[in-house]
Amino acid sequence: NIQGVIFDLDGVLTDTAELHYQAWQKLADEEGIPFNRVANEALRGVSRRASLMLIIGNRRYSEEQIQEMMERKNRYYVELLKNMTCDDLLPGAIALLDELRQAGIKIAIGSASKNARTVIERLGIADKVDAIADGYSVKQPKPAPDLFLYAAKLLGTEPAQSVVVEDAAAGIEAALAAGMWAVGIGPVERVGAAHVVLPSLAGVKWADIRSQLHNSKK
Ligand code: G6P
Ligand code: MG
Repeated sequence: NIQGVIFDLDGVLTDTAELHYQAWQKLADEEGIPFNRVANEALRGVSRRASLMLIIGNRRYSEEQIQEMMERKNRYYVELLKNMTCDDLLPGAIALLDELRQAGIKIAIGSASKNARTVIERLGIADKVDAIADGYSVKQPKPAPDLFLYAAKLLGTEPAQSVVVEDAAAGIEAALAAGMWAVGIGPVERVGAAHVVLPSLAGVKWADIRSQLHNSKK
């Protein structure tokens, strides 16, 4: 019996992947490092530091330079967030949040982002969630289970009675490591390890997710 649902934010409720991409691209251009949209796909759900490491590859930078680049990228990203509104919620997101609330199911955000609270405010969904676990909550990033376990603790739900909705491979891995149910949003090549895979949240009813989880053979 499911008591709580933990939503990843970037790529599940809103498409910040594009804004993260624009900010990284600006930084890469300034540093003269080749980067593009295809390379950006590997950064989905990946922490800020790990993203920068993937972008710089084997180029050598000091820890100070790395810190400065992470801060610079974040300034560009935060600037882009200023234009975000509730129109940036992905289709089906609000309907599912409202339906879960109606059904008495607890809702948390489980995002690796240190900007999660800003994004939640800009999207206007702060009053629709019961708890927020973000980039400040735990030390170990996804695929470690820590963030989702922390979110479930905030909700007061057992991992086995919690569902995680995620668009990144590392997030699905984290959910399974936490002993939770996983719903993957996106292509099977990316989120195929989840118990249930959906192309997006558009038109998705809680009853459908519940029955698909019930029938999943994993
Ligand atoms: C999420 C996003 C990643 C981002 C990470 C850290 O996982 O999917 O693209 O790098 O959060 O976000 P932050 O806002 O703290 O740099
Ligand atoms: Mg994501």
